[in-house]
Amino acid sequence: MCGIVAHVGSRDCVPILLEGLAQLEYRGYDSAGLAVVSRSGGLRVHKAKSRVAGLGSNLPARFKGGPGIGHTRWATHGEPNDINAHPHVVGPVAVVHNGIIENADELRAKLIAEGAEFTSETDSEVLAHLIARASGYLPAPDAAADGTTRQASAVANDGTGQGGLEGQDDGTGQAGGEGQDDGTGQATRAGKRGGAGMARVARTGSTGKPAHADSVADNLDGRGDLEEAVRRALTSVVGTYGIAVLDARRPDRVVAARNGSPVVLGIGEREMFVASDAAALVRHTRRVVYLDDGEVALVRADGFETATLDGGLTAKTPSTITWTSEAFDKGEYTHFMRKEIAEQPEVVARTLSGRLEPRFQTTHLGGIELAARELLDIHRVKILGCGSAYIAGAIGAHLIEQLARLPAHAEPASEFRYRNPVIERDTLYIAVSQSGETFDTLAAVQEVKRKGGRVLGIVNVVGSTIARECARGIYLHAGPEIAVVSTKTFTCTAVAFALLAIHLGRIRDLSTADGGRLLAALAALPEQIAGIIGREAEIAALAERLAGSEHAYFVGRSAGYAVAMEGALKLKEVSYLHAEAYSAAELKHGPLALISPETPTMAVIPRDELYEKNVSTIEEIRARRGPVFAVTHPGEMPAAIDAAFAVPKSEPELDPILLNIPLQLLAYHVALKKGCDIDKPRNLAKSVTVE
Ligand code: AGP
Repeated sequence: MCGIVAHVGSRDCVPILLEGLAQLEYRGYDSAGLAVVSRSGGLRVHKAKSRVAGLGSNLPARFKGGPGIGHTRWATHGEPNDINAHPHVVGPVAVVHNGIIENADELRAKLIAEGAEFTSETDSEVLAHLIARASGYLPAPDAAADGTTRQASAVANDGTGQGGLEGQDDGTGQAGGEGQDDGTGQATRAGKRGGAGMARVARTGSTGKPAHADSVADNLDGRGDLEEAVRRALTSVVGTYGIAVLDARRPDRVVAARNGSPVVLGIGEREMFVASDAAALVRHTRRVVYLDDGEVALVRADGFETATLDGGLTAKTPSTITWTSEAFDKGEYTHFMRKEIAEQPEVVARTLSGRLEPRFQTTHLGGIELAARELLDIHRVKILGCGSAYIAGAIGAHLIEQLARLPAHAEPASEFRYRNPVIERDTLYIAVSQSGETFDTLAAVQEVKRKGGRVLGIVNVVGSTIARECARGIYLHAGPEIAVVSTKTFTCTAVAFALLAIHLGRIRDLSTADGGRLLAALAALPEQIAGIIGREAEIAALAERLAGSEHAYFVGRSAGYAVAMEGALKLKEVSYLHAEAYSAAELKHGPLALISPETPTMAVIPRDELYEKNVSTIEEIRARRGPVFAVTHPGEMPAAIDAAFAVPKSEPELDPILLNIPLQLLAYHVALKKGCDIDKPRNLAKSVTVE
């Protein structure tokens, strides 16, 4: 899951691309690169195994121009290095790609058989070769000798100008008529693109003659029109992609395309933007258009046109992003993770806002678009998500079983989709995703819909793919979450599940009194969370005692086990401390063998009907001299606990929401103590848009 960005307009695009990439860096940050059409008309490329900031501070002299494309990478094929970094360039064509080309090896073999020379190990480079060929650029047999097509070498030391690559070292309603955005929001055209007037370029493969019938080139007759070339090239591609394509011979446009990986167009004043998500363009415009799978967009400064791979024009309705550019800033905080933890009182209040209905002691969820009668026909709930979204779903399942007395179960989306699931008519499927772009969750939603199932989304990013695919659900309104580790959206998702569980419960047997006590407890959450965050120093002290460990265990029962899972995941992700979560009852069935004085255990022990059972578990740990820390509720602390943090009591069903907050701060402070890159942990990315 990489980040792509592009700009078309009269301004120098380099600072715009760099700023956009910096906003997208949470999607992948192991290398980055830019390609721009210079004022003299050449293609200039600058890429390296570095963060965006490093790329920006090492720009070659006079590296400016436009249009341009940019990329920040999360490596899937080929290790992070200068060569595998994007853009990938063939002749005048440069491509940035987010996704995975599944038939890259086959295409690469065919292209090499036709004389193409590959320099990178990436799957993405095949796109540059395919598009260059489809746009009529075929390296002359001896072209390789002068290095014009040799991607790496051209980047390193050619700078001679027009048509060639300019070296690095020398020195991101709609269209009326010609794609102008007339603001009416309605597309006015139909029919096919392409046709008369396109130059036909003689094909000169490495041998100068067509190799054989099914060679890649035979599919692409070298038409010069970039958008047409991209569409034709993509017909032979299998896999996922969000791409932006630049051609120095066409310095007035960029072409973008999407299949599985998100692409959004930004509509500016006489300029256009392309990006993997709105974070990269919100400083320039709030009017956006989301590409759908199988769409290709021709983007020029004065507007855009979209079409399907076979050239059928598509209509797009711009929407307006609600998030401000400030929301993407760290403000006074050193890390986005700490800022987002601090935002929880405010954003939980936003998730609750307008959804508590004391008149009937229930909740109002306009977005689920399921009438009470339909909800009464629901006899089971299946929750799907990945990582923390799946774990928040596990807390949601507890809430729905307790409050709505409906059998509910959470399952990792990746497991669900590949077991050929039995989809039931009276089951409600709920897809959970903060980014709304996680590939496995999206595919699980599509699988449920393909089999006729009913699916809701609980999503944070407005307009994201999963939100549009579900078409109904609950938005968290938690604002952008930039830190790779999710904190505020986990809490808001659990709150959204509480709202849904009360809603489902109150049309069943949940009493008015129960509804009332839960609404009051929900309304008290923001202040209670603020109180916990205010006692950060105590948690930092706990982190001091944990940071030196190599391993740690988290245990809990029932919903406390889900909190233990989330606590362990956070600690793993951000501090690289090996943390495992176990159901407390499962410990003596094996994991207890791992308990030792060097391995601390964090126990999640709410003062509920299972309290005594949890205390016996920690005594079993203490008996094996394992240090025990605990998050619990106020009251006398069992002697077996070395140190504890007590959170305020809420209603038992909502306690997991508060018990999790200290574990977020614990992970943060352990990572801080260990000097980790808190917002961009190694090997991870914020939204996982590949399988
Ligand atoms: C959580 O801290 C991680 N970033 C990761 O597990 C995440 O929850 C998972 O990738 C799902 O992301 P989503 O909510 O955007 O779908």
